[in-house]
Amino acid sequence: MKDTQEKDLSQYPEKEALTAHPIDELIARRWSPIVFEDRKVEREKILSLLEAARWAPSCFNDQPWSYLVFDGTDAEALEKARQCLVEGNRWARQAPVLLLSVARENFAYNGSPNRHAQHDVGAASEDLVLQAVEEGLVAHQMAGYDAEKARREFAIPEGYTPMAMIAVGYPRHDDLRDLDEKTRARELAERSRKPVSEIAFAGKWGASYGE
Ligand SMILES: Cc1cc2nc3c(=O)[nH]c(=O)nc-3n(C[C@H](O)[C@H](O)[C@H](O)COP(=O)(O)O)c2cc1C
Repeated sequence: MKDTQEKDLSQYPEKEALTAHPIDELIARRWSPIVFEDRKVEREKILSLLEAARWAPSCFNDQPWSYLVFDGTDAEALEKARQCLVEGNRWARQAPVLLLSVARENFAYNGSPNRHAQHDVGAASEDLVLQAVEEGLVAHQMAGYDAEKARREFAIPEGYTPMAMIAVGYPRHDDLRDLDEKTRARELAERSRKPVSEIAFAGKWGASYGE
């Protein structure tokens, strides 16, 4: 692994996944940066991200997802969303857009608990994130925010669970040298994943699939 000092700091990293097996380029190119360009995100692009989420599959086609959009049109609402972020996610206050995904916990068609609601919201959000890559944007999901504060601030009703705050913006492609050391190191850090053999089992729990 290369040391941060040795890396080229004049280029923002692409950080494409180093895969053991071929995958779609869009998936490989997605990652979660914490620095954004100082540039607004066009409304049409935000709508395309939401459209991608909309077409996700869901249990009983219940579509248990909602997204609160903080695009700066309502500056006060965006500021309130930024104030919900934990200190460790201070970087996300620079993002021009924040989204908050919300899961409806009961099925719309019969009101019984939907055990897959949060699963489905996660799937929709990943579609949204991949569409962001396609649009030349990045979308970085976060658990680090005060969900109860968000519920109060944005009048999220009972039966709905705030899931992830998502920072959306254009990635930086220019010089990294103006970043502080810690931020730069984080942006340049290697991406890592468990091997397939650790996440896939052949027929029974614990029997590795793949090498
Ligand atoms: C549900 C969820 C919550 C996350 N919460 C945070 C967070 O609060 N702060 C943060 O910086 N990154 C957060 N992340 C991003 C992960 O840290 C990141 O996806 C992971 O380290 C893998 O890196 P990559 O996305 O660049 O491949 C979150 C991701 C997901 C899916």
